[in-house]
Parts: sequence; structure tokens; C-alpha cells
Amino acid sequence: MNTINQKEWDKMLLKYKFAKTMLEAELEILLKEHEYRTGTNPVEHIKSRLKSEESILKKLENKGKAKTVENVEKHIHDIVGFRIVCSFLSDVYDIVNIIKSSKNFKIKEENDYIKNPKDTGYSSYHLNILIPIPLEQKLKYVEAEIQIRTVAMDFWASLEHKLQYKLPKDIPVYLERELLSCSNEIKIIDAKMQHLYDIVKKYTQKK
Ligand code: GTP
Ligand code: MG
Repeated sequence: MNTINQKEWDKMLLKYKFAKTMLEAELEILLKEHEYRTGTNPVEHIKSRLKSEESILKKLENKGKAKTVENVEKHIHDIVGFRIVCSFLSDVYDIVNIIKSSKNFKIKEENDYIKNPKDTGYSSYHLNILIPIPLEQKLKYVEAEIQIRTVAMDFWASLEHKLQYKLPKDIPVYLERELLSCSNEIKIIDAKMQHLYDIVKKYTQKK
């Protein structure tokens, strides 16, 4: 049985599309203003995407939820997805603070997978925010997920993601262990790069 009311569904998708547009604009302003004020830009690059209808339905199915608008809003948190990649660890926390300083959205959930990596070794800072969207003369809050990580963490996550797709359901234990070990090495490299960056910053400040 098809439980989807098409009109409601289309309205929901439109809401998420608006949220992505709003967040793109808001992030650009926040980061440009930060650059104007401090002369620094902590961002290496930003990627954003709207989850396809097909992926939304697949995720609902994986979570064992019926295909309804209510279930999407309650259980799918990354229809609007942003990934902000930066060079150094301190940049990640600078960006988190810049986003949290905005009065234009609410923080729904915050997960520091850098301090507490996932069992796989996955490291990143996740912010789930609520963006107010004017719709039918009312303000609706729409969720977006922002992942903030270093280039090194991004390198690990994209390779691990590719492996997940290529391999059968259960990854062999030795591969899991290797991936975890790579993640630990990346953590050490990020700490070393941060140390070098701190020295460079001190040197340039003295001049
Ligand atoms: P959701 O229901 O999707 O929110 O799952 P969750 O709450 O268990 O996970 P979380 O929100 O913490 O992270 C979801 C997103 O983080 C995923 O869609 C991935 O993009 C990323 N992610 C989480 N864990 C891993 C991992 O082990 N490897 C990789 N490559 N990415 C991960
Ligand atoms: Mg989540």
C-alpha cells in the first residue's frame, strides 16, 4: 500500500530545498564576515547536497519505518547535508563556534566524533540544526546536518565509505582493524599538523 500523500510529500521536499538555499546563504555570510573581521578563512571546501527521493525512501525502509511525511521529519536527519572541510583541527572548532554564534537557527543535536570517534574510527564534528523556513505564512523549522572535519578525516571517511559500498555486508575483521589503525594514524598526523600551524601562527604574529 502506498502511504504517501503526494501533495504533502512534494511540499515537504520543497521545504528541504528552501532550507538548503537558506543555509548556503547563511554560511556564506557567516564565513565572509568572519574573514572580514579576523583576516582568516578556516574553510578548505564545502559540499552540500539534497538527499534524493530514492535515498530517503531507502533509508526509511532500512529503519523499518513506513513511507510517510511524518516519519521522514522524525527519523531522517540528513536530507539537507553540508560537509565543511578544513585544514587544521582548530579550524573545525572555529567553524563550530561560528555556526553556533548564529541567531538564525537552533542547534538540535551536537556530536563531537573527534573527541569520541565512532567504533569504526570515523571522526568528524556533527551539528544538526533547525532552519526557520517561511511556508504558507508560517515559520517551519527544517533540519539540516552539517559535518565538519579536517582534510585528513575527510580522506579517511571517503575511502572507508567506498569500501563499505564495494564490500559485501560484513567487512572482514582484519579490514575493520586496519581502517581503525589508519584512523588513529590520521589523528596523530592532524595533531602534528596543528602543532606546526601553531608555530607558524606564532612566527607570523611576531613579525
Ligand atoms: P542517522 O540516522 O543517519 O542520523 O544515523 P546516526 O545518528 O546513527 O549517525 P550520525 O548522525 O552520527 O552520522 C550519520 C552520517 O555520518 C552518515 O550519513 C555518514 O555521512 C557519517 N558517518 C557516520 N559514521 C560513519 C562511518 O563509520 N564511516 C563513514 N565513512 N561515515 C560515517
Ligand atoms: Mg544522526
